[in-house]
Order: sequence, then structure tokens, then C-alpha cells
Amino acid sequence: MKIIMLGAPGAGKGTQAKKIADKYQIPHISTGDIFRANIKEGTELGKKAKSYMDQGLLVPDELTLELIMDRFQNPDCANGYVLDGFPRTIPQAEALTAALEKNGETIDYAINVEVPDENIVTRMSGRRACLACGATYHVVYAPTKTEGVCDRCGEKLVLRDDDKPETVKKRLDVYHSQTQPLIDYYTKQGKLVEVDGTQNVDAVFDAIVKILGA
Ligand code: AP5
Ligand code: MG
Ligand code: ZN
Repeated sequence: MKIIMLGAPGAGKGTQAKKIADKYQIPHISTGDIFRANIKEGTELGKKAKSYMDQGLLVPDELTLELIMDRFQNPDCANGYVLDGFPRTIPQAEALTAALEKNGETIDYAINVEVPDENIVTRMSGRRACLACGATYHVVYAPTKTEGVCDRCGEKLVLRDDDKPETVKKRLDVYHSQTQPLIDYYTKQGKLVEVDGTQNVDAVFDAIVKILGA
């Protein structure tokens, strides 16, 4: 099964993608997580990506595509994947379509998690992230068992550098201008499905499972 998560920053793509990956036994591939891991390790890619990410801008398509095409070579992608944060521009979507077409494949669903902009800033300010395993929490909506410590791997949680309110606003602008057109793109391909992302985490997941099948 090949799934794309669409939605604004903070819509809950990562939260739901992890649950999908667990239930359907496919890898969760988040370009944002991969960039953040590279920043943490101080790699060349990380240095390049950080300057864009800290401003709320997209990392250039060439860099992102190189990284993701390389990730697809990993044997764990044989049974599909859930993509979170990729594609994010029309050229990225076209590159994905072309890469799949070469093998006679297509994606199965592009799931649009809908949350209005008004709800996003509150969500982001309470988010806590684990840079070691990619888990995401919220101080109110998805708290950890021990404050500030990842339930999955025990690492210390951080506030993401790009979750400041000004940067969140910029990310929303970038989303509307560069990523929202993908909703049309996947509607035309007959792959778009929508879920109401303002419900609680489990209700959103139930809606997704109804679409994907148990
Ligand atoms: P990325 O890491 O992809 O960030 P994003 O798209 O801005 O999305 P977020 O991770 O912020 O939100 P999310 O939808 O995953 O929400 P989450 O589940 O965490 O990208 C970061 C940056 O990397 C980009 O700005 C760009 O610079 C670069 N980049 C990445 N991919 C790229 C690409 N393809 N091309 C170019 N550049 C790229 O949830 C948010 C919070 O809400 C959490 O605290 C969560 O616990 C809580 N929450 C989730 N669901 C619910 C719910 N139903 N109710 C209440 N709270 C909830
Ligand atoms: Mg995310
Ligand atoms: Zn962790």
C-alpha cells in the first residue's frame, strides 16, 4: 500500500502516519524527520536544509528529490510506504508519479487531513518532538507518561526550531501557495480522500482505517 499524507503544517500528518505505519506494517517516511535527523548529526545535507527550514521555507526540490529517491531504494519499501511531508510541490508530485510509472505503479491514496489555519498555531506551540525516533506529542492533546521524555525511546523531547508562531505563519503561507495545489493534482488522479483533522487523534485514525480497510 502506497499512501501520501497531505495537509497543512500541524494538521496531524505525522501523528496519523505513525499509526498507519504500525497498523499496516509499512515504513513511515517523513522528509521533515529525515532533514531534522541530518541537522542533528551535522551532515552537509542537514546544513543546507536548516537554513530553509528555520525560515519556514521549503528545501529546494533537487535536494528533497535526491533524498527521497534514495530512500525508496531501501528494501523496506517493497510493500509500500506512508509518505509524510512529501510530495510538497507540483514538481515533487510529478517526479513521484514518473518514478512510480516506470515500474507500472501508482499510489493508492492521498489522504488530506483537513484542519483550518486557526487551529494550527495552538497545536504547534504545544507540540514536543523526539529528534531520535521522530515521535510527536502535545502537552495537552497527546502528553507523554513522563514530562519531557519520549515514551517510545526515552530521549529528551524538544520544541522544534520552526514552531515559533511567526515561523508557523510563514509555513502556512508556503503551504497554501506551494502544497495546497496538490489537492487538485491528486483529485484529478482520482486518488484524493479527505478526513476531518479537527477530531481527536483516535477519531481521525478511525476515519482513515474506514478508507484503507481494516
Ligand atoms: P515537516 O516536518 O513535514 O513539517 P510540516 O508539514 O510543517 O508538518 P508538521 O510536522 O509540523 O505537522 P504534522 O502535520 O506532521 O502534525 P503533527 O502530527 O506533528 O517539514 C518541516 C520542514 O522541512 C518544512 O517547513 C520544509 O522546510 C522542510 N521539508 C520537509 N519536507 C519537504 C519537502 N518535501 N520539500 C521541501 N521541503 C521540505 O501534529 C502537530 C501537533 O498537533 C502535535 O503536537 C500533535 O500531538 C498534535 N495533534 C495531532 N493530531 C491532533 C488531533 N487530532 N487533535 C489534537 N492535537 C493533535
Ligand atoms: Mg510532521
Ligand atoms: Zn523517541
